[in-house]
Amino acid sequence: MSHERQFHPEFLFGAATAAFQIEGANRTDGRTDSIWDAFCRLPGAVIDGHDGSTACDHYNRYHSDVDLMADLGLQTYRFSTSWSRIQPDGGRVNEAGLDFYERVVDKLLERGIMPWLTLYHWDLPQVLEERGGWCARDTAYLFRDYAMNVHARLGDRVPVWTTLNEPWCSAFLGYTAGAHAPGRQDPRAGLTAAHHLLLGHGLAVQALREADPALTLGLTLNLTLAEPADPQRPGDVDAARRIDGQMNRIFLDPIFRGAYPDDVLADVDGLGLVDAIHPGDLDIIAAPIDALGVNYYHGQAVSDLPPTAPIHGEAPTDRPTGSPFPAADGVHTHSQGLPTTAMGWEIQPDGLAELLVRIHRDYTDPAGIEVYVTENGAAFDDELSADGAVHDDDRVSFLRAHLNAILDATERGVPVRGYFYWSLMDNFEWAWGYHKRFGIVHVDYDTQQRTVKDSGLEYGRIATSRTLSIEPAARTAAAV
Ligand code: FCB
Repeated sequence: MSHERQFHPEFLFGAATAAFQIEGANRTDGRTDSIWDAFCRLPGAVIDGHDGSTACDHYNRYHSDVDLMADLGLQTYRFSTSWSRIQPDGGRVNEAGLDFYERVVDKLLERGIMPWLTLYHWDLPQVLEERGGWCARDTAYLFRDYAMNVHARLGDRVPVWTTLNEPWCSAFLGYTAGAHAPGRQDPRAGLTAAHHLLLGHGLAVQALREADPALTLGLTLNLTLAEPADPQRPGDVDAARRIDGQMNRIFLDPIFRGAYPDDVLADVDGLGLVDAIHPGDLDIIAAPIDALGVNYYHGQAVSDLPPTAPIHGEAPTDRPTGSPFPAADGVHTHSQGLPTTAMGWEIQPDGLAELLVRIHRDYTDPAGIEVYVTENGAAFDDELSADGAVHDDDRVSFLRAHLNAILDATERGVPVRGYFYWSLMDNFEWAWGYHKRFGIVHVDYDTQQRTVKDSGLEYGRIATSRTLSIEPAARTAAAV
């Protein structure tokens, strides 16, 4: 007999995308380059020189894409706005850019889908990068202005505002490892960028709050469960502390406690973080938020012993990239012996439950706020079958196992109030170009034909019934 697990009555089922990964139309209606347009032109930066010029052509197909979401039964949609569409030269507002997002939001509302807006999913206007990018303190203030420009147009219709998506990636993959735009490789630059991203977040939260106290405000962090490969080895325990510090606590502590963690400050001593902090910054960064978005893909077992694989960011191409961690030399990831996705990421659903319990205990419970899983998903080597379907059983299992983990976390007292599958559709997977497919909807990039995968059909059933039925034997095996 299968066991039926119910989701909380307020639990939202959604899917997520990001502007650069789906929109295309990167020269349309006044849009200019973002750092990702420029990065795509760097030889070797993106596999096969793929770029965002067409992507999923969502700019022209948003109407039918929203209809597809509604047909799937999604209740909310997490998307991002492109700063370089809205302020192409970094200053002046381009009304045509805002018009596009207004059309998207109105269409979502018409189909009964709640818009969940992310202001920054990695695509800084290139013109601002040329003025120093996130290493320039001024960019934080310009980000606040941009937030207010978007709010002036959409504030009456969008209830939830996320400032940043994964500032760890923006700062450390972008400015330290060089694996993401803008492709710089400098530990100091990454730490300075991280602080300015946090400052921009805090400034935007303060300004949006003042403009409209009814908004739900927050940010999304990519968090990991860093565990010592061998809990008995002090070197492994310290490696886990470092990764937890430089990935999770470097953002969580300033936001929820108004201070960078002492051990992280000691690890990165001399790398410019303290020089970037001005008096009062941490009070701004700690401006109260209403919701924390957690992006979870996998955990990691780490050690100071060499590897299976060195810790790296996403660095799939022949262009040399460094470690994203400013001060984790000699730290290595070890295999946990788990199955992996097409990204090589280990499939570890119980890690999501553990992570949520820990985040709630240490941060969101004391702050009295709710948690949303704003991204979780998997790339697999999907194929369109002769019957016209995509039988992605591995993704169906992945999705069910992670929803099951959320229910486990909820039973353990964590108020998880929503889940956004990454991604609604296959799209431009950054340095991997179009080679990695994360969607619950398949995209044929030659024809732009969309095909709902089996995982999309399954997700729709779960979202509509608000129930996950689990075979008893599978429960203990995390339903994989
Ligand atoms: C996250 C990003 C998202 C997507 C997924 C796979 O880090 O936020 O844009 O690339 O990974």
